[in-house]
Amino acid sequence: MAPNSMSFPMFFVMFSIAFPVVVTVTFMYRNSSFGLFEGYSEGNLQRGTSQNVTTAAERLPNVTETHGFQLGRAIQNTTHDSSGGKDQGNNNSTVSSGVKERQRRSQNHTSIEGRIKNNIITADDGSKIASLTSSKNDSTPAHVNLDDNDKLLGGLLTSGFDEESCISRIQSHLYRKASPHKPSPYLISKLRNYEEIHTRCGPNTRAYHRSMTMIEHSKNKGAATLCKYLIWTPANGLGNQMINLAATFLYAILTDRVLLVEFGKDKHGLFCEPFLNSTWILPRKSPFWNEKHIETYQILLEKDRASNSTEDLPSVLFINLQHTRSDPEKYFHCGHSQDLLQKIPLLTLQSDQYFVPSLFMNPFFNQEVTKMFPEKETVFHHLGRYLFHPSNEAWKLISDYYEAHLAKADKQIGLQIRVFSPVSTPQQAVMDLVLSCTLKHKILPQVDLQTSAGKNQTTVKAVLVASLYREYGDNLKRMYRKNPTLSGEVIKVYQPSHEEHQKYNDNKHNMKAWIDMYLLSLSDELVTTSLSTFGYVAQGLGNLKPWLLYKLVNNETHFPPCERDFSSEPCYHFPPKHYCNGEPLKDIVSSFPYLRPCKDFRVGLKMVKDSI
Ligand SMILES: *[C@@H]1O[C@H](CO)[C@@H](O)[C@H](O)[C@H]1NC(C)=O
Ligand SMILES: *[C@@H]1O[C@H](CO)[C@@H](O)[C@H](O)[C@H]1NC(C)=O
Ligand SMILES: *[C@@H]1O[C@H](CO)[C@@H](O)[C@H](O)[C@H]1NC(C)=O
Ligand SMILES: *[C@@H]1O[C@H](CO)[C@@H](O)[C@H](O)[C@H]1NC(C)=O
Ligand SMILES: *[C@@H]1O[C@H](CO)[C@@H](O)[C@H](O)[C@H]1NC(C)=O
Ligand SMILES: *[C@@H]1O[C@H](CO)[C@@H](O)[C@H](O)[C@H]1NC(C)=O
Ligand SMILES: *[C@@H]1O[C@H](CO)[C@@H](O)[C@H](O)[C@H]1NC(C)=O
Ligand SMILES: *[C@@H]1O[C@H](CO)[C@@H](O)[C@H](O)[C@H]1NC(C)=O
Ligand SMILES: *[C@@H]1O[C@H](CO)[C@@H](O)[C@H](O)[C@H]1NC(C)=O
Ligand SMILES: *[C@@H]1O[C@H](CO)[C@@H](O)[C@H](O)[C@H]1NC(C)=O
Ligand SMILES: *[C@@H]1O[C@H](CO)[C@@H](O)[C@H](O)[C@H]1NC(C)=O
Repeated sequence: MAPNSMSFPMFFVMFSIAFPVVVTVTFMYRNSSFGLFEGYSEGNLQRGTSQNVTTAAERLPNVTETHGFQLGRAIQNTTHDSSGGKDQGNNNSTVSSGVKERQRRSQNHTSIEGRIKNNIITADDGSKIASLTSSKNDSTPAHVNLDDNDKLLGGLLTSGFDEESCISRIQSHLYRKASPHKPSPYLISKLRNYEEIHTRCGPNTRAYHRSMTMIEHSKNKGAATLCKYLIWTPANGLGNQMINLAATFLYAILTDRVLLVEFGKDKHGLFCEPFLNSTWILPRKSPFWNEKHIETYQILLEKDRASNSTEDLPSVLFINLQHTRSDPEKYFHCGHSQDLLQKIPLLTLQSDQYFVPSLFMNPFFNQEVTKMFPEKETVFHHLGRYLFHPSNEAWKLISDYYEAHLAKADKQIGLQIRVFSPVSTPQQAVMDLVLSCTLKHKILPQVDLQTSAGKNQTTVKAVLVASLYREYGDNLKRMYRKNPTLSGEVIKVYQPSHEEHQKYNDNKHNMKAWIDMYLLSLSDELVTTSLSTFGYVAQGLGNLKPWLLYKLVNNETHFPPCERDFSSEPCYHFPPKHYCNGEPLKDIVSSFPYLRPCKDFRVGLKMVKDSI
């Protein structure tokens, strides 16, 4: 069966959406949407395979000064006729060399126009980047010197995929700066090994049917099966789900289990299949889809404490690792627990936490993960880029948006503004916070209030604002439209528009959220709101150390507006509180020197480099 990205009807939305993200005891909503922006449509080198160089203004529908639904329609227009994937690869949707250009330009300001000669675009070193006269049936980006090593992210990804079924997999490296972090040879070998197990034991294989049948018939008594499984079930918003899914995947690798995901309709069409020639979706007809009547990990622990007998282990176990402040310790990080779990062929895990640090804390796994990730602060960076590839539908929206608005800029700033308590926090206080952070750290320039003439405008910074409230973006736009900047930089602000009178189902919410997170991850600099798992996904994919905005909950002013994070790893908000012997965990850093309290949540922990 050829794995394929799921199809998604292209009635794309750009209105108000709410993504609940539980972090402590409160629900916080981040709400953002996508849509019409002030476009500016100077010439932009278009997609590499077009016969002639066209400008953005020619290719894109007029997005300037439009409001409402037009972008939505434009997206529909360009997606419907290329939904087959084939045309997409062959024709208009081939990657824009302008995108690659931006990355190069940011280091070296030679203009792209200066490098087009005889329809060949050259890099600064004179090497050919792309030919503008490629044959029409060329399904890879037009003669772009695609180093396979770049394309496969230094060996992180495996070759052999049907490229057209997941265009983002081969194109993402053109949009993102090359990562300075190479996956270790050991990580690569573990991934290839995992893929082999998944191919052998995944859905629709004989081994799968045999193992699952055996498990089903021996629910309450142990069974030795050919293959072992780990079923991921969703909890909380998409950001939480993605960081948790990456952690769950790592746990699957460490325990030689096949990862299967319970993706409901809400995640339809978001991601490509990550594993070659197989699927990671738990089949709908599986008896373990939403299985409620199985033994729980908590009960297993109690039984284990009462007697030492592990003879009556079940074949299926539900592990709830969702945080609550008052929960008894779960001892999931402990060797003894893992010893028990190892014998159970099917585990169903539910959590909204990035529990990777607890795997490092576990003596069972510590050696393995340390070998896989010599740079401990890159776990999500690697696993996230391995697992999460936007589907063709999502990728079209991401890449089109990127090229229309962001690719032209010399620098991109991602600005995620979440308001935790809209009622008690005046908008002005949030705006002041954002400005005070971005101006102080020179992420954005000061405006020149004395003159409106302006200096020579040299560089363009694009600011992508993700927020429920369009006022923040509007304020920024107004500020930079009225006055030139002291630095001479031109600031272009793009903020999603937002429709209050429409209702959308979760799938659209999630699609929107995913596109938002991905675009934020392409930033050169990122400013996020503390505790935001959306921010974590973006920073991890993009290898960015974000500036964390202070979590405002009322009209306060006396605090640093933001702090720079020390790694791009997500924060594990609710880590274990006890050693395995039951003693309270006191000095975490001396016990686990590679862990630090998170900057945005002191109770939480995250990975750091050994050397820090
Ligand atoms: C490019 O455009 C010019 C003018 O529009 C046209 O004369 C020329 O044939 C085009 N070249 C190709 C390769 O299509
Ligand atoms: C887009 O706008 C420009 C200038 O406003 C105009 O010249 C052009 O004809 C428009 N294109 C379309 C397709 O409407
Ligand atoms: C989309 O296509 C329809 C019909 O093909 C056309 O009327 C409409 O103008 C197009 N919209 C845009 C924004 O290009
Ligand atoms: C795609 O390219 C073809 C010619 O190769 C052109 O006729 C068509 O308008 C383009 N479609 C879009 C959506 O740009
Ligand atoms: C290019 O796209 C056009 C319309 O979008 C389609 O008719 C044509 O078959 C495509 N060409 C190739 C070579 O796929
Ligand atoms: C761009 O880089 C090339 C070589 O890497 C160098 O010769 C050239 O001077 C650079 N141009 C600018 C404007 O920095
Ligand atoms: C692709 O183009 C080459 C020549 O440019 C031709 O020989 C080949 O048959 C074409 N393949 C397809 C699938 O059209
Ligand atoms: C994946 O499937 C394709 C087509 O079915 C096949 O050619 C290829 O050999 C398979 N790859 C692996 C690793 O099984
Ligand atoms: C459980 O095992 C430990 C040592 O492995 C032993 O000290 C303890 O007495 C046993 N408890 C029971 C209830 O069997
Ligand atoms: C601004 O640009 C003009 C010509 O483009 C040049 O003459 C002038 O010296 C520049 N001014 C500054 C301050 O760079
Ligand atoms: C918030 O605080 C500032 C200064 O501390 C004050 O000027 C402003 O009026 C306050 N706003 C509200 C809504 O309380």
